[in-house]
Amino acid sequence: MRKMPWPRAGALSPWLLASLLLIAAPAYCEAPAQKTVARAQAGASAAHPPGAAIASAHSLSTQAGLEIIGKGGNAFDAAIAVSSTLSVVEPISSGIGGGGFFLLHDAKSGRDVFVDARETAPAASTPAAYLDDKGELNRDRATNGPWSAGIPGLPAALVHLAQKYGKLPLKTSLAPAIRIAREGFPIYARLEKGYGSRREVMERYRGTREVFLAAGHAPKTGEILKQPDLARTLELLAAKGFDGFYRGDVADKLLAAVKEEGGQWQASELAGYKVREREPLRLKYRGWDIVTAPPPSSGGVAMAEILQVIEGWDLSKLDSAHRTHILAEAMRRAYRDRTIYLGDPDFVKMPLKRLTSPDYAAGLRATIHPDKATPSDLLSGQPAPLEDDETTHFSIIDRDGNRVSATQTVNLLYGSGMVAPGTGVLLNNEMDDFALRPGTPNAFGVMGFGANAPEPGKRMLSSMTPSFLESQDKVIAVGAPGGSRIITQVLLAILAYDAGLQPQQVAALPRIHHQWMPDVISAEQGALDADTVKQLQAMGHKVNAGESSWGNLQTVMWDKRANTLSGGTDPRNPVGLAEVLLKP
Ligand code: GLY
Repeated sequence: MRKMPWPRAGALSPWLLASLLLIAAPAYCEAPAQKTVARAQAGASAAHPPGAAIASAHSLSTQAGLEIIGKGGNAFDAAIAVSSTLSVVEPISSGIGGGGFFLLHDAKSGRDVFVDARETAPAASTPAAYLDDKGELNRDRATNGPWSAGIPGLPAALVHLAQKYGKLPLKTSLAPAIRIAREGFPIYARLEKGYGSRREVMERYRGTREVFLAAGHAPKTGEILKQPDLARTLELLAAKGFDGFYRGDVADKLLAAVKEEGGQWQASELAGYKVREREPLRLKYRGWDIVTAPPPSSGGVAMAEILQVIEGWDLSKLDSAHRTHILAEAMRRAYRDRTIYLGDPDFVKMPLKRLTSPDYAAGLRATIHPDKATPSDLLSGQPAPLEDDETTHFSIIDRDGNRVSATQTVNLLYGSGMVAPGTGVLLNNEMDDFALRPGTPNAFGVMGFGANAPEPGKRMLSSMTPSFLESQDKVIAVGAPGGSRIITQVLLAILAYDAGLQPQQVAALPRIHHQWMPDVISAEQGALDADTVKQLQAMGHKVNAGESSWGNLQTVMWDKRANTLSGGTDPRNPVGLAEVLLKP
Protein backbone atom coordinates (compact mmCIF):
# COMPACT_ATOMS: atom_id res chain seq x y z
CA MET A 1 0.00 0.00 0.00
CA ARG A 2 1.34 3.40 -0.92
CA LYS A 3 1.51 5.98 1.83
CA MET A 4 0.84 9.47 0.65
CA PRO A 5 1.21 12.75 2.46
CA TRP A 6 -2.05 14.69 2.75
CA PRO A 7 -1.10 18.28 2.05
CA ARG A 8 0.15 20.34 4.95
CA ALA A 9 -0.89 23.92 5.48
CA GLY A 10 1.81 25.27 3.20
CA ALA A 11 0.93 22.99 0.28
CA LEU A 12 -2.81 22.74 0.30
CA SER A 13 -4.64 20.65 -2.26
CA PRO A 14 -7.05 22.48 -4.57
CA TRP A 15 -10.06 20.93 -2.85
CA LEU A 16 -8.85 21.90 0.57
CA LEU A 17 -7.63 25.29 -0.55
CA ALA A 18 -10.99 26.00 -2.18
CA SER A 19 -12.69 24.90 0.98
CA LEU A 20 -10.49 27.07 3.12
CA LEU A 21 -11.00 30.13 0.98
CA LEU A 22 -14.71 29.64 1.27
CA ILE A 23 -14.59 29.63 5.02
CA ALA A 24 -14.49 33.38 4.93
CA ALA A 25 -17.52 33.72 2.70
CA PRO A 26 -20.55 31.47 3.11
CA ALA A 27 -23.83 32.84 4.38
CA TYR A 28 -23.84 30.63 7.44
CA CYS A 29 -20.74 32.45 8.67
CA GLU A 30 -22.82 35.53 9.36
CA ALA A 31 -23.10 34.46 12.97
CA PRO A 32 -24.12 36.68 15.85
CA ALA A 33 -21.59 38.03 18.29
CA GLN A 34 -21.85 35.20 20.80
CA LYS A 35 -20.09 32.94 18.32
CA THR A 36 -16.67 32.58 19.85
CA VAL A 37 -13.53 30.96 18.63
CA ALA A 38 -11.89 30.09 21.86
CA ARG A 39 -8.17 29.94 21.96
CA ALA A 40 -5.92 30.38 24.93
CA GLN A 41 -2.23 30.28 25.49
CA ALA A 42 -0.66 29.24 28.73
CA GLY A 43 2.53 27.90 30.28
CA ALA A 44 4.93 25.45 28.73
CA SER A 45 3.92 22.25 30.50
CA ALA A 46 2.71 19.57 28.15
CA ALA A 47 1.82 17.08 30.85
CA HIS A 48 -1.61 18.61 31.40
CA PRO A 49 -3.75 21.05 29.43
CA PRO A 50 -3.62 24.64 30.66
CA GLY A 51 -7.33 24.59 31.55
CA ALA A 52 -10.54 23.19 30.18
CA ALA A 53 -12.24 23.55 26.79
CA ILE A 54 -15.84 22.85 25.85
CA ALA A 55 -17.61 23.11 22.50
CA SER A 56 -21.34 22.56 22.24
CA ALA A 57 -24.29 23.56 20.12
CA HIS A 58 -25.59 26.20 22.54
CA SER A 59 -23.80 28.89 24.53
CA LEU A 60 -25.86 28.03 27.64
CA SER A 61 -24.77 24.38 27.60
CA THR A 62 -21.11 25.31 27.11
CA GLN A 63 -21.38 27.81 29.97
CA ALA A 64 -23.13 25.21 32.14
CA GLY A 65 -20.19 22.85 31.64
CA LEU A 66 -17.68 25.57 32.48
CA GLU A 67 -19.69 26.50 35.58
CA ILE A 68 -19.33 22.93 36.80
CA ILE A 69 -15.60 22.87 35.99
CA GLY A 70 -15.34 26.10 37.99
CA LYS A 71 -16.95 24.31 40.94
CA GLY A 72 -14.21 21.68 40.92
CA GLY A 73 -15.89 19.21 38.60
CA ASN A 74 -14.03 17.16 36.02
CA ALA A 75 -14.86 16.61 32.34
CA PHE A 76 -17.41 13.94 33.27
CA ASP A 77 -19.28 16.24 35.67
CA ALA A 78 -19.16 18.91 32.98
CA ALA A 79 -20.56 16.39 30.48
CA ILE A 80 -23.58 15.87 32.74
CA ALA A 81 -24.12 19.63 32.87
CA VAL A 82 -23.70 20.12 29.11
CA SER A 83 -25.84 17.11 28.21
CA SER A 84 -28.71 18.00 30.54
CA THR A 85 -28.64 21.67 29.53
CA LEU A 86 -28.77 20.71 25.85
CA SER A 87 -31.82 18.63 26.74
CA VAL A 88 -33.43 21.84 28.00
CA VAL A 89 -32.31 24.39 25.40
CA GLU A 90 -32.15 22.24 22.27
CA PRO A 91 -35.26 20.01 22.43
CA ILE A 92 -35.26 19.94 18.66
CA SER A 93 -32.13 17.76 18.75
CA SER A 94 -31.83 15.78 21.97
CA GLY A 95 -33.27 15.35 25.42
CA ILE A 96 -33.74 13.11 28.42
CA GLY A 97 -36.50 11.39 26.46
CA GLY A 98 -33.82 10.17 24.06
CA GLY A 99 -30.40 8.54 24.07
CA GLY A 100 -26.77 9.02 23.22
CA PHE A 101 -23.20 7.79 23.20
CA PHE A 102 -20.53 9.12 25.57
CA LEU A 103 -16.93 8.39 24.64
CA LEU A 104 -14.76 8.97 27.72
CA HIS A 105 -11.02 9.14 28.32
CA ASP A 106 -9.95 8.83 31.92
CA ALA A 107 -6.56 10.53 32.17
CA LYS A 108 -5.50 8.77 35.38
CA SER A 109 -5.97 5.22 34.13
CA GLY A 110 -5.44 6.08 30.46
CA ARG A 111 -8.60 4.08 29.75
CA ASP A 112 -11.10 4.91 27.01
CA VAL A 113 -14.65 3.70 27.41
CA PHE A 114 -17.77 4.00 25.27
CA VAL A 115 -20.91 4.51 27.35
CA ASP A 116 -23.82 3.33 25.23
CA ALA A 117 -27.06 4.99 26.33
CA ARG A 118 -28.93 4.17 23.14
CA GLU A 119 -32.69 3.67 23.43
CA THR A 120 -34.05 0.11 23.42
CA ALA A 121 -37.04 -1.36 21.59
CA PRO A 122 -40.17 -1.98 23.65
CA ALA A 123 -41.36 -5.59 23.29
CA ALA A 124 -44.59 -4.51 21.57
CA SER A 125 -42.63 -2.78 18.79
CA THR A 126 -42.34 -5.74 16.42
CA PRO A 127 -41.90 -5.16 12.67
CA ALA A 128 -45.55 -6.14 12.15
CA ALA A 129 -46.65 -3.26 14.39
CA TYR A 130 -45.32 -0.78 11.79
CA LEU A 131 -47.05 -2.17 8.71
CA ASP A 132 -50.29 -0.81 7.30
CA ASP A 133 -53.13 -2.86 5.77
CA LYS A 134 -51.23 -3.17 2.50
CA GLY A 135 -48.07 -4.41 4.22
CA GLU A 136 -46.32 -1.10 3.60
CA LEU A 137 -44.33 0.72 6.26
CA ASN A 138 -46.63 3.02 8.25
CA ARG A 139 -44.32 6.02 8.22
CA ASP A 140 -46.51 8.07 10.54
CA ARG A 141 -46.28 5.38 13.22
CA ALA A 142 -42.52 4.99 12.65
CA THR A 143 -41.75 8.69 13.10
CA ASN A 144 -44.53 10.29 15.18
CA GLY A 145 -46.03 9.62 18.58
CA PRO A 146 -45.64 6.74 21.04
CA TRP A 147 -44.84 3.89 18.64
CA SER A 148 -41.88 5.80 17.26
CA ALA A 149 -40.24 6.06 20.69
CA GLY A 150 -37.67 3.72 22.19
CA ILE A 151 -37.08 3.40 25.94
CA PRO A 152 -34.93 6.45 26.81
CA GLY A 153 -31.28 5.98 27.75
CA LEU A 154 -29.97 9.48 28.44
CA PRO A 155 -31.10 9.84 32.09
CA ALA A 156 -29.41 6.53 32.93
CA ALA A 157 -26.20 7.78 31.31
CA LEU A 158 -26.19 10.95 33.43
CA VAL A 159 -26.57 8.87 36.59
CA HIS A 160 -23.87 6.44 35.43
CA LEU A 161 -21.40 9.24 34.66
CA ALA A 162 -21.95 10.83 38.07
CA GLN A 163 -21.65 7.56 39.98
CA LYS A 164 -18.67 6.09 38.18
CA TYR A 165 -16.63 8.96 36.75
CA GLY A 166 -17.66 12.31 38.24
CA LYS A 167 -16.37 14.09 41.36
CA LEU A 168 -19.52 16.07 42.15
CA PRO A 169 -23.00 14.95 43.19
CA LEU A 170 -25.57 14.71 40.41
CA LYS A 171 -27.51 17.46 42.17
CA THR A 172 -24.65 19.91 41.51
CA SER A 173 -24.04 18.87 37.90
CA LEU A 174 -27.74 19.02 37.03
CA ALA A 175 -28.26 22.40 38.74
CA PRO A 176 -27.66 24.57 35.64
CA ALA A 177 -30.15 22.56 33.55
CA ILE A 178 -32.75 22.68 36.32
CA ARG A 179 -32.30 26.43 36.68
CA ILE A 180 -32.58 27.09 32.93
CA ALA A 181 -35.60 24.79 32.58
CA ARG A 182 -37.35 26.68 35.36
CA GLU A 183 -36.31 30.25 34.48
CA GLY A 184 -36.44 29.74 30.73
CA PHE A 185 -34.17 30.67 27.85
CA PRO A 186 -34.67 32.75 24.68
CA ILE A 187 -36.12 30.82 21.76
CA TYR A 188 -33.87 31.01 18.69
CA ALA A 189 -34.64 30.80 14.98
CA ARG A 190 -33.88 27.09 14.51
CA LEU A 191 -36.32 26.12 17.28
CA GLU A 192 -39.05 28.28 15.79
CA LYS A 193 -38.47 27.04 12.25
CA GLY A 194 -38.25 23.38 13.33
CA TYR A 195 -41.45 23.73 15.33
CA GLY A 196 -43.14 25.08 12.22
CA SER A 197 -42.14 22.03 10.21
CA ARG A 198 -43.32 19.59 12.95
CA ARG A 199 -46.28 21.63 14.15
CA GLU A 200 -49.08 19.37 12.93
CA VAL A 201 -47.55 16.38 14.71
CA MET A 202 -46.58 18.20 17.91
CA GLU A 203 -49.96 19.73 18.44
CA ARG A 204 -51.62 16.31 18.34
CA TYR A 205 -50.35 15.71 21.88
CA ARG A 206 -51.70 17.29 25.07
CA GLY A 207 -48.31 17.27 26.83
CA THR A 208 -46.59 18.95 23.88
CA ARG A 209 -49.24 21.66 23.67
CA GLU A 210 -48.80 22.33 27.40
CA VAL A 211 -45.08 23.05 26.91
CA PHE A 212 -44.84 24.64 23.50
CA LEU A 213 -48.15 26.55 23.39
CA ALA A 214 -47.91 27.82 26.98
CA ALA A 215 -47.62 31.38 25.63
CA GLY A 216 -50.83 30.90 23.65
CA HIS A 217 -49.04 30.57 20.32
CA ALA A 218 -46.24 28.60 18.67
CA PRO A 219 -42.67 29.33 19.84
CA LYS A 220 -41.36 32.70 18.59
CA THR A 221 -37.74 33.76 18.35
CA GLY A 222 -36.73 35.97 21.26
CA GLU A 223 -39.53 34.86 23.58
CA ILE A 224 -38.67 32.89 26.72
CA LEU A 225 -39.44 29.16 26.86
CA LYS A 226 -39.93 27.88 30.41
CA GLN A 227 -40.22 24.15 31.16
CA PRO A 228 -41.24 23.81 34.82
CA ASP A 229 -42.27 20.14 34.47
CA LEU A 230 -38.90 19.30 32.95
CA ALA A 231 -37.21 21.14 35.85
CA ARG A 232 -39.14 18.93 38.31
CA THR A 233 -38.23 15.76 36.40
CA LEU A 234 -34.55 16.74 36.46
CA GLU A 235 -34.84 17.48 40.18
CA LEU A 236 -36.22 13.99 40.78
CA LEU A 237 -33.35 12.55 38.77
CA ALA A 238 -30.89 14.61 40.84
CA ALA A 239 -32.47 13.51 44.13
CA LYS A 240 -33.19 9.84 43.42
CA GLY A 241 -30.80 8.93 40.63
CA PHE A 242 -31.99 6.16 38.28
CA ASP A 243 -35.24 5.62 40.19
CA GLY A 244 -36.11 9.30 39.83
CA PHE A 245 -36.79 8.71 36.13
CA TYR A 246 -37.22 4.99 35.53
CA ARG A 247 -39.43 4.17 38.55
CA GLY A 248 -42.05 6.10 40.52
CA ASP A 249 -43.82 9.27 39.52
CA VAL A 250 -42.00 10.13 36.28
CA ALA A 251 -42.10 6.52 35.04
CA ASP A 252 -45.81 6.29 35.86
CA LYS A 253 -46.51 9.45 33.87
CA LEU A 254 -44.45 8.23 30.90
CA LEU A 255 -46.32 4.91 30.88
CA ALA A 256 -49.69 6.64 31.21
CA ALA A 257 -48.89 9.04 28.35
CA VAL A 258 -47.79 6.26 26.01
CA LYS A 259 -50.95 4.31 26.85
CA GLU A 260 -53.22 7.36 26.41
CA GLU A 261 -51.85 7.83 22.88
CA GLY A 262 -52.33 4.17 21.96
CA GLY A 263 -48.77 2.87 22.51
CA GLN A 264 -47.52 -0.01 24.65
CA TRP A 265 -44.63 0.28 27.11
CA GLN A 266 -44.16 -1.91 30.18
CA ALA A 267 -43.01 -0.62 33.59
CA SER A 268 -40.37 -3.37 33.55
CA GLU A 269 -38.92 -1.97 30.30
CA LEU A 270 -38.24 1.37 31.96
CA ALA A 271 -37.02 -0.12 35.24
CA GLY A 272 -34.85 -2.63 33.35
CA TYR A 273 -33.04 -0.09 31.17
CA LYS A 274 -29.25 -0.34 31.45
CA VAL A 275 -26.42 1.63 29.90
CA ARG A 276 -23.72 -0.56 28.40
CA GLU A 277 -20.00 0.10 28.69
CA ARG A 278 -18.32 -1.01 25.49
CA GLU A 279 -14.78 -1.17 24.23
CA PRO A 280 -14.33 1.66 21.70
CA LEU A 281 -13.16 0.93 18.19
CA ARG A 282 -9.52 1.86 17.55
CA LEU A 283 -7.95 2.76 14.22
CA LYS A 284 -4.71 4.20 12.97
CA TYR A 285 -4.54 6.71 10.18
CA ARG A 286 -1.31 8.38 9.06
CA GLY A 287 0.14 8.88 12.54
CA TRP A 288 -3.20 9.45 14.26
CA ASP A 289 -4.64 7.11 16.86
CA ILE A 290 -8.37 7.29 16.45
CA VAL A 291 -10.70 6.10 19.20
CA THR A 292 -14.27 5.97 18.04
CA ALA A 293 -17.75 4.48 18.24
CA PRO A 294 -18.30 0.70 18.04
CA PRO A 295 -21.69 -0.89 17.26
CA PRO A 296 -24.51 -0.19 17.83
CA SER A 297 -23.00 2.80 16.08
CA SER A 298 -22.04 2.18 12.49
CA GLY A 299 -19.71 5.18 12.62
CA GLY A 300 -16.44 3.57 13.65
CA VAL A 301 -16.73 0.62 11.30
CA ALA A 302 -17.64 2.82 8.34
CA MET A 303 -14.81 5.22 9.15
CA ALA A 304 -12.31 2.36 9.41
CA GLU A 305 -13.35 1.17 5.96
CA ILE A 306 -13.21 4.62 4.37
CA LEU A 307 -9.88 5.67 5.90
CA GLN A 308 -8.17 2.39 5.05
CA VAL A 309 -9.52 2.46 1.49
CA ILE A 310 -8.37 6.04 0.81
CA GLU A 311 -4.94 5.40 2.32
CA GLY A 312 -4.14 3.61 -0.94
CA TRP A 313 -4.06 6.86 -2.91
CA ASP A 314 -1.81 9.87 -2.64
CA LEU A 315 -4.77 12.20 -2.42
CA SER A 316 -2.54 15.27 -2.37
CA LYS A 317 -1.45 14.43 -5.91
CA LEU A 318 -4.99 14.11 -7.22
CA ASP A 319 -7.05 16.94 -8.64
CA SER A 320 -10.21 17.98 -6.85
CA ALA A 321 -12.48 15.80 -9.03
CA HIS A 322 -10.43 12.62 -8.56
CA ARG A 323 -10.02 13.21 -4.84
CA THR A 324 -13.77 13.66 -4.46
CA HIS A 325 -14.34 10.57 -6.63
CA ILE A 326 -12.11 8.42 -4.42
CA LEU A 327 -13.75 9.71 -1.25
CA ALA A 328 -17.23 9.13 -2.66
CA GLU A 329 -16.38 5.59 -3.82
CA ALA A 330 -14.96 4.72 -0.38
CA MET A 331 -18.04 6.21 1.31
CA ARG A 332 -20.37 4.31 -1.05
CA ARG A 333 -18.82 0.96 -0.13
CA ALA A 334 -18.69 1.64 3.60
CA TYR A 335 -22.34 2.75 3.73
CA ARG A 336 -23.36 -0.39 1.87
CA ASP A 337 -21.63 -2.57 4.46
CA ARG A 338 -23.15 -0.53 7.28
CA THR A 339 -26.58 -1.34 5.98
CA ILE A 340 -26.06 -5.01 5.44
CA TYR A 341 -23.99 -6.15 8.39
CA LEU A 342 -24.44 -3.87 11.40
CA GLY A 343 -26.78 -3.85 14.37
CA ASP A 344 -26.80 -4.19 18.16
CA PRO A 345 -23.79 -6.32 19.24
CA ASP A 346 -25.87 -7.79 22.08
CA PHE A 347 -28.19 -9.33 19.48
CA VAL A 348 -26.31 -9.90 16.24
CA LYS A 349 -23.01 -11.41 15.22
CA MET A 350 -21.10 -9.05 12.94
CA PRO A 351 -17.97 -9.63 10.87
CA LEU A 352 -16.24 -6.68 12.55
CA LYS A 353 -12.75 -8.07 12.27
CA ARG A 354 -13.16 -8.47 8.54
CA LEU A 355 -14.88 -5.14 7.94
CA THR A 356 -12.19 -3.21 9.81
CA SER A 357 -9.18 -5.08 8.45
CA PRO A 358 -6.68 -3.50 6.01
CA ASP A 359 -6.97 -6.58 3.78
CA TYR A 360 -10.70 -6.08 3.42
CA ALA A 361 -10.08 -2.40 2.62
CA ALA A 362 -7.54 -3.46 0.00
CA GLY A 363 -10.20 -5.67 -1.59
CA LEU A 364 -12.66 -2.80 -1.69
CA ARG A 365 -10.00 -0.53 -3.13
CA ALA A 366 -9.39 -2.94 -5.97
CA THR A 367 -13.02 -2.53 -7.05
CA ILE A 368 -12.68 1.25 -7.46
CA HIS A 369 -12.03 2.44 -11.01
CA PRO A 370 -9.73 5.47 -10.96
CA ASP A 371 -11.92 7.46 -13.37
CA LYS A 372 -15.37 5.87 -13.28
CA ALA A 373 -18.17 5.84 -10.73
CA THR A 374 -19.49 2.46 -9.60
CA PRO A 375 -23.29 2.71 -9.91
CA SER A 376 -24.77 1.94 -6.50
CA ASP A 377 -27.40 -0.29 -8.04
CA LEU A 378 -24.63 -2.67 -9.08
CA LEU A 379 -24.48 -3.24 -5.32
CA SER A 380 -28.34 -3.34 -5.27
CA GLY A 381 -30.76 -0.73 -3.83
CA GLN A 382 -32.87 2.26 -4.85
CA PRO A 383 -32.80 6.03 -4.37
CA ALA A 384 -34.45 7.55 -1.29
CA PRO A 385 -35.02 11.01 0.26
CA LEU A 386 -32.38 12.98 2.14
CA GLU A 387 -32.54 13.95 5.78
CA ASP A 388 -33.01 17.00 8.00
CA ASP A 389 -30.47 18.08 10.54
CA GLU A 390 -30.96 16.81 14.07
CA THR A 391 -29.04 15.30 17.02
CA THR A 392 -26.33 17.22 18.86
CA HIS A 393 -22.69 16.80 19.84
CA PHE A 394 -20.36 18.24 22.46
CA SER A 395 -16.65 17.89 23.15
CA ILE A 396 -14.76 18.50 26.42
CA ILE A 397 -11.16 18.40 27.64
CA ASP A 398 -10.42 19.22 31.27
CA ARG A 399 -7.26 20.40 32.99
CA ASP A 400 -6.30 16.85 34.01
CA GLY A 401 -6.54 15.64 30.44
CA ASN A 402 -9.85 13.80 30.91
CA ARG A 403 -11.99 14.09 27.85
CA VAL A 404 -15.50 13.49 26.61
CA SER A 405 -16.87 13.27 23.10
CA ALA A 406 -20.63 12.79 23.27
CA THR A 407 -23.41 12.69 20.71
CA GLN A 408 -27.01 12.56 21.88
CA THR A 409 -30.34 12.59 20.10
CA VAL A 410 -34.10 12.32 19.97
CA ASN A 411 -33.66 11.44 16.27
CA LEU A 412 -35.68 13.66 13.88
CA LEU A 413 -36.68 17.26 14.66
CA TYR A 414 -38.33 17.27 18.10
CA GLY A 415 -38.24 13.46 18.10
CA SER A 416 -41.67 11.86 18.22
CA GLY A 417 -43.26 15.27 18.82
CA MET A 418 -44.86 13.89 21.96
CA VAL A 419 -44.24 15.26 25.46
CA ALA A 420 -45.53 13.05 28.29
CA PRO A 421 -47.92 15.32 30.26
CA GLY A 422 -46.59 16.50 33.61
CA THR A 423 -42.98 15.45 32.92
CA GLY A 424 -41.66 17.90 30.30
CA VAL A 425 -40.06 14.83 28.68
CA LEU A 426 -40.18 14.92 24.88
CA LEU A 427 -39.99 11.34 23.64
CA ASN A 428 -37.59 10.32 20.89
CA ASN A 429 -38.56 8.75 17.56
CA GLU A 430 -35.52 6.51 17.44
CA MET A 431 -37.54 3.43 16.40
CA ASP A 432 -37.20 4.77 12.85
CA ASP A 433 -33.47 3.99 13.06
CA PHE A 434 -34.38 0.29 13.03
CA ALA A 435 -35.03 -1.47 9.75
CA LEU A 436 -38.74 -1.63 10.56
CA ARG A 437 -39.46 -3.17 7.20
CA PRO A 438 -36.23 -4.61 5.81
CA GLY A 439 -35.32 -3.12 2.48
CA THR A 440 -37.30 0.10 3.09
CA PRO A 441 -35.10 3.16 3.60
CA ASN A 442 -35.58 5.08 6.86
CA ALA A 443 -36.05 8.86 7.08
CA PHE A 444 -32.35 9.35 6.29
CA GLY A 445 -32.61 7.29 3.12
CA VAL A 446 -30.50 4.57 4.71
CA MET A 447 -31.57 1.01 3.92
CA GLY A 448 -31.64 -1.70 6.56
CA PHE A 449 -31.87 -5.47 6.67
CA GLY A 450 -32.14 -8.18 9.28
CA ALA A 451 -29.18 -7.24 11.49
CA ASN A 452 -31.01 -4.05 12.38
CA ALA A 453 -34.56 -5.41 12.70
CA PRO A 454 -36.32 -4.55 15.99
CA GLU A 455 -36.40 -7.10 18.81
CA PRO A 456 -37.43 -6.59 22.45
CA GLY A 457 -34.66 -4.75 24.30
CA LYS A 458 -32.51 -4.29 21.19
CA ARG A 459 -30.71 -1.04 20.40
CA MET A 460 -31.27 0.50 16.97
CA LEU A 461 -28.28 1.06 14.70
CA SER A 462 -26.89 4.60 14.84
CA SER A 463 -24.55 6.81 12.85
CA MET A 464 -23.45 8.82 15.90
CA THR A 465 -19.65 8.89 15.87
CA PRO A 466 -18.16 10.63 18.90
CA SER A 467 -14.40 10.34 18.43
CA PHE A 468 -10.96 11.14 19.84
CA LEU A 469 -7.89 11.73 17.70
CA GLU A 470 -4.41 11.70 19.11
CA SER A 471 -1.07 12.35 17.45
CA GLN A 472 2.33 13.02 18.96
CA ASP A 473 1.37 16.67 19.45
CA LYS A 474 -2.38 16.85 19.57
CA VAL A 475 -5.35 15.53 21.48
CA ILE A 476 -8.74 16.18 19.88
CA ALA A 477 -12.37 15.41 20.66
CA VAL A 478 -14.78 15.70 17.74
CA GLY A 479 -18.26 14.76 16.60
CA ALA A 480 -21.36 16.03 14.86
CA PRO A 481 -25.10 15.55 14.36
CA GLY A 482 -26.76 14.94 11.00
CA GLY A 483 -28.14 11.40 10.87
CA SER A 484 -26.40 9.35 8.22
CA ARG A 485 -24.19 12.36 7.40
CA ILE A 486 -22.51 12.25 10.81
CA ILE A 487 -19.91 9.70 9.72
CA THR A 488 -18.72 11.68 6.71
CA GLN A 489 -18.54 14.92 8.73
CA VAL A 490 -16.25 13.25 11.26
CA LEU A 491 -14.24 11.70 8.44
CA LEU A 492 -13.71 15.08 6.74
CA ALA A 493 -12.76 16.55 10.11
CA ILE A 494 -10.05 13.90 10.52
CA LEU A 495 -8.68 14.70 7.05
CA ALA A 496 -8.75 18.42 7.85
CA TYR A 497 -6.95 17.97 11.17
CA ASP A 498 -4.42 15.81 9.37
CA ALA A 499 -3.93 18.72 6.95
CA GLY A 500 -2.99 20.92 9.90
CA LEU A 501 -6.18 22.94 10.21
CA GLN A 502 -7.30 24.50 13.48
CA PRO A 503 -10.56 23.50 15.21
CA GLN A 504 -12.60 26.50 14.02
CA GLN A 505 -11.46 25.94 10.43
CA VAL A 506 -12.35 22.26 10.74
CA ALA A 507 -15.85 23.11 11.96
CA ALA A 508 -16.40 25.54 9.09
CA LEU A 509 -15.16 23.42 6.15
CA PRO A 510 -17.70 22.86 3.36
CA ARG A 511 -18.88 19.23 3.25
CA ILE A 512 -19.47 16.45 0.78
CA HIS A 513 -21.27 13.15 1.39
CA HIS A 514 -22.15 9.88 -0.31
CA GLN A 515 -24.15 7.13 1.40
CA TRP A 516 -24.56 4.46 -1.31
CA MET A 517 -28.33 5.05 -1.46
CA PRO A 518 -29.31 7.45 -2.91
CA ASP A 519 -26.54 7.22 -5.50
CA VAL A 520 -25.49 10.85 -5.41
CA ILE A 521 -22.62 12.99 -4.17
CA SER A 522 -24.15 15.67 -1.98
CA ALA A 523 -22.11 18.85 -1.65
CA GLU A 524 -22.67 22.01 0.31
CA GLN A 525 -22.51 25.28 -1.49
CA GLY A 526 -18.89 26.01 -2.30
CA ALA A 527 -17.59 22.53 -1.53
CA LEU A 528 -17.07 21.69 -5.23
CA ASP A 529 -16.38 24.15 -8.02
CA ALA A 530 -18.19 23.96 -11.36
CA ASP A 531 -15.27 22.32 -13.15
CA THR A 532 -15.00 19.60 -10.48
CA VAL A 533 -18.73 18.92 -10.75
CA LYS A 534 -18.41 18.61 -14.54
CA GLN A 535 -15.52 16.16 -14.24
CA LEU A 536 -17.35 14.09 -11.64
CA GLN A 537 -20.40 13.93 -13.90
CA ALA A 538 -18.17 12.78 -16.76
CA MET A 539 -16.98 9.94 -14.52
CA GLY A 540 -20.62 8.86 -14.08
CA HIS A 541 -21.38 10.49 -10.73
CA LYS A 542 -24.62 12.24 -9.97
CA VAL A 543 -23.76 15.41 -8.06
CA ASN A 544 -26.08 17.60 -6.02
CA ALA A 545 -23.84 20.63 -5.75
CA GLY A 546 -25.02 23.57 -3.66
CA GLU A 547 -27.28 21.67 -1.27
CA SER A 548 -28.27 23.65 1.79
CA SER A 549 -25.73 23.25 4.57
CA TRP A 550 -25.86 20.41 7.08
CA GLY A 551 -24.24 19.37 10.34
CA ASN A 552 -23.22 21.10 13.53
CA LEU A 553 -19.70 19.94 14.35
CA GLN A 554 -18.25 20.66 17.80
CA THR A 555 -14.60 20.01 18.53
CA VAL A 556 -11.85 20.85 21.02
CA MET A 557 -8.11 20.44 20.72
CA TRP A 558 -5.19 20.39 23.13
CA ASP A 559 -1.94 21.15 21.33
CA LYS A 560 0.55 19.52 23.69
CA ARG A 561 3.60 21.04 22.08
CA ALA A 562 2.36 24.64 22.26
CA ASN A 563 0.30 23.75 25.35
CA THR A 564 -2.72 25.58 24.03
CA LEU A 565 -6.38 24.71 24.11
CA SER A 566 -8.76 25.71 21.34
CA GLY A 567 -12.25 24.91 20.24
CA GLY A 568 -14.29 24.93 17.08
CA THR A 569 -18.04 25.38 16.91
CA ASP A 570 -19.94 25.01 13.69
CA PRO A 571 -20.65 28.43 12.10
CA ARG A 572 -23.77 26.93 10.49
CA ASN A 573 -25.35 27.11 13.95
CA PRO A 574 -25.28 30.68 15.28
CA VAL A 575 -26.04 29.76 18.91
CA GLY A 576 -23.11 27.34 19.46
CA LEU A 577 -20.12 28.20 21.60
CA ALA A 578 -16.59 26.87 21.98
CA GLU A 579 -14.90 28.27 25.05
CA VAL A 580 -11.71 27.81 27.02
CA LEU A 581 -11.41 28.27 30.76
CA LEU A 582 -7.81 28.72 31.82
CA LYS A 583 -6.61 27.23 35.08
CA PRO A 584 -6.92 29.95 37.75
N1 GLY B 1 -30.74 9.15 15.16
C1 GLY B 1 -29.55 9.40 14.47
C2 GLY B 1 -28.48 8.39 14.76
O1 GLY B 1 -28.52 7.76 15.80
O2 GLY B 1 -27.60 8.21 14.00
